[in-house]
Amino acid sequence: MNDRQRFIYVVLLWTSVFLAGCKEISQTKEANMEPSITKTDFGKTKDGQNVDLYTLTNINGLVVKITNYGGIVTELWTPDRNGKLDDIVLGFDNLKDYEEKSPYFGCIVGRYGNRIAKGKFTLDGKEYTLAVNNGENHLHGGLKGFDKVVWDAESIQSAESVGLKLHYLSKDMEEGYPGNLDVTVTYTLTNKDELQIAYEASTDKPTICNLTNHNYYNLAGQGVRDNYENQLMINADYFTPVDEGLIPTGELRSVKDTPMDFTRPTAIGARIDSDDTQLKYGGGYDHNWVLNKKAGEMGLAAKVYDPETGRVMEIHTTEPGVQFYSGNFLDGTLVGKEGKVYKHRYAFCLETQHYPDSPNKPDFPSTVLRPGQIYKTTTVHKFSTK
Ligand code: GLA
Repeated sequence: MNDRQRFIYVVLLWTSVFLAGCKEISQTKEANMEPSITKTDFGKTKDGQNVDLYTLTNINGLVVKITNYGGIVTELWTPDRNGKLDDIVLGFDNLKDYEEKSPYFGCIVGRYGNRIAKGKFTLDGKEYTLAVNNGENHLHGGLKGFDKVVWDAESIQSAESVGLKLHYLSKDMEEGYPGNLDVTVTYTLTNKDELQIAYEASTDKPTICNLTNHNYYNLAGQGVRDNYENQLMINADYFTPVDEGLIPTGELRSVKDTPMDFTRPTAIGARIDSDDTQLKYGGGYDHNWVLNKKAGEMGLAAKVYDPETGRVMEIHTTEPGVQFYSGNFLDGTLVGKEGKVYKHRYAFCLETQHYPDSPNKPDFPSTVLRPGQIYKTTTVHKFSTK
């Protein structure tokens, strides 16, 4: 070996030692990488309650931010097909806006998701009168539903996931509902890029219960454009047609040959302004679909794909229905995160739930909860790209 060869030999040797070291460090780093959850202050409610904001991050970098005010998902960052993260839900960057003007952005809805006609129902022969907050009807739990209360929060962490367990005790006759309802909602972000929401409740008097989440999605990113290009598939052959007040008539109607047919993936905007009575009543889509699956069993509810960014969201649920709302009441007056203006139909909601007005529709799956029973439902949102 001459000097030059010896020099090259030494350089190569040191390079390989260095690279082996780097590999080991990166492997160790990967092996140690765990999902995380952190807590920051999100301010005080108008009545002086402290509120926090929790940031959940999984090992792939997906981020979900949740506040214990209303159990609201304030941000949800998922990658597009090039790995670029975007926030795909509408919301505000401060508590005050949530308190003053939120149209249920990202919240937990309860005690009853969607409408109850005239705010009245009869249970075991007794008539109950609920708060009326949507014309003559009761909507999303009333004047101060579960979206406007402060929940107790507890972080949960394992190697596979991070979670936030929220607890709230809804007092007997709150908003007119009978029974003390003890509610726990657990959000879990898994390393498989799933956001799971598990709902549990029990009561000390017969009552009704129908909980859901009200995320406003746009898979292209929040506040960038309308939802028209998002392609939606809903696993349902039937929907529940409504009257002008958006109360179901009681009929289960076939979606076949109507703009309600999402059995094959279809752009949300493709038929939204069709000359169709149901779409006129809703000002677009604002209806409940009857899922092709047994209530109580986990099954596919819906799948959404955005061709521009490649984002896919698949929703599985134990619920019998899903309310697809196409953001028809958004009109450009709300300014959200990053100063984004939320214009007409800039997002869509897929609220897994029992059908609206079930307490007054004996043929719909029951929403009655009795002492000794446990209300238990789960919905899973799986994020991927294509
Ligand atoms: C639900 C309802 C809509 C509307 C939104 C919130 O999806 O069905 O009519 O009230 O919530 O704005």
